[in-house]
Amino acid sequence: MNTNNELDLQKLFVESLANDNVFMVATTVDTGFEWQAVDECREKLDKNIKIVKERGKIFFNVYWNQFAQVQEMRSIDNVFIVADVRKFEFTETSKKDDLQLFKDTVHNDMKLEKCLNAWKRITGFQGKIYPTAEEYNSVEKDRKLSNTVVESTTVRGRKRGQDPADAKEDEILRYRVTCERTGKHSFESADVARVIGGELQDKYLWLVDLSTYYLEILCKLVNNELVTHLRVTHESKHRRNITCFGPTTLRATVCYNLLRLAHPNPGDIIIDPMCGGGSIPIEAVLAYSHAYVIGGDIHPKAILRAKSNFDASSIASKIDLLHWNVTQLPLKDSLVDIVVADMPFGKRSGRMTDNRILYKEFLTELGRVMKPLKGRAVLLTYDRRSFSVALQTAGDLFRVTKTLGVNIGGLQAVVYVLLRTDIPYEQFKPRIYKHALRKSLRVFWCKKTNPC
Ligand SMILES: C[S@@+](CC[C@H](N)C(=O)[O-])C[C@H]1O[C@@H](n2cnc3c(N)ncnc32)[C@H](O)[C@@H]1O
Repeated sequence: MNTNNELDLQKLFVESLANDNVFMVATTVDTGFEWQAVDECREKLDKNIKIVKERGKIFFNVYWNQFAQVQEMRSIDNVFIVADVRKFEFTETSKKDDLQLFKDTVHNDMKLEKCLNAWKRITGFQGKIYPTAEEYNSVEKDRKLSNTVVESTTVRGRKRGQDPADAKEDEILRYRVTCERTGKHSFESADVARVIGGELQDKYLWLVDLSTYYLEILCKLVNNELVTHLRVTHESKHRRNITCFGPTTLRATVCYNLLRLAHPNPGDIIIDPMCGGGSIPIEAVLAYSHAYVIGGDIHPKAILRAKSNFDASSIASKIDLLHWNVTQLPLKDSLVDIVVADMPFGKRSGRMTDNRILYKEFLTELGRVMKPLKGRAVLLTYDRRSFSVALQTAGDLFRVTKTLGVNIGGLQAVVYVLLRTDIPYEQFKPRIYKHALRKSLRVFWCKKTNPC
């Protein structure tokens, strides 16, 4: 986080404090797509909204009545209410003194009530966030006596804790504190979580529960700045569409961000010619319901997976699914407005050597089926080299309007945004022959000059 961002985060938070109806929100975004989230936020909330952008995150202030719109955003993963932003002057040498600073702050200065009340309303938590000492003591006594471990309904790596909406009215809030830390400190992240968690327990009489918690408090410490988040989303929003997962299923949030880069208009024909389990076509229909969406794949298993995902999604009738080869699409010339594809990567799907041929033939075929001057293609690949070679071969058929470096499941990938030029496909064909002719002339020339 740079200095400007630090200043802006604090400023944003101070602005939210000034109005009881304003809340600071933090959302996570797939790394590389932050600008898409910023654009969506401006489009859906307010075109003049002030946004602080960090790697993999955006922050902004919303009025209470805008929360529903935040939760409907499609480019973002997790949503948090920012309950506190502040700076510390650490000794950097005494762990005890530095941790005491956190204790004192939680005890004396952190006012979480406004954000806790908002969290309760947004998540639908029916339990008690301000229990009395008697209520707390009686539950703690029971927990100690029965010594029961509440079974977590958490599916590993999927849901976090328990859905707050499932809490009963007489339940006391169960919570956990986690800390993510960057910078040099005299303490560890676990120390921060323990100290802040302990102090919060004393202050609010909540029950610590690391696995079946309703509220997660995420403390993000970057150098000397601590941002305290209350998690709103129980499950990351990227899992929204797919029931039948494959080896390379793309997150719904990434699909949306790719589609967004193509700026779909009502009536556009959108194709994903390598649709795998259908994550891009499903998101296309859900986010751009006035477009006409076609998905296709060469692999019969992918087609079956896509079909079961379409059937489970209730929008099956709105997508056409075809078994095809991208190098010979059964579509007429200049038909398609938008192509969005997650190309075989090489590492997880396909092989680099195959990609070199496949990518060339694919781009050339896209040049045929896409509308000249209007057609947009948004293509995600890990295999930058094969793509560059393919682009050279496709020559004047496309103009690269944007490239984005993105992180897909820990792999560095690239998104290319292409615009179909006005060169007619028929005029392009001779260029292949010219290219081949030049090559054979070169061979002839070499043979002539270096007779073996
Ligand atoms: C990276 S995966 C796509 C994953 C998909 N986005 C999902 O979320 O499930 C690439 C897909 O390209 C398909 N594919 C590879 N070569 C193809 C070809 N020549 N024609 C059509 N599809 C092809 C593979 O079968 C694979 O399903």
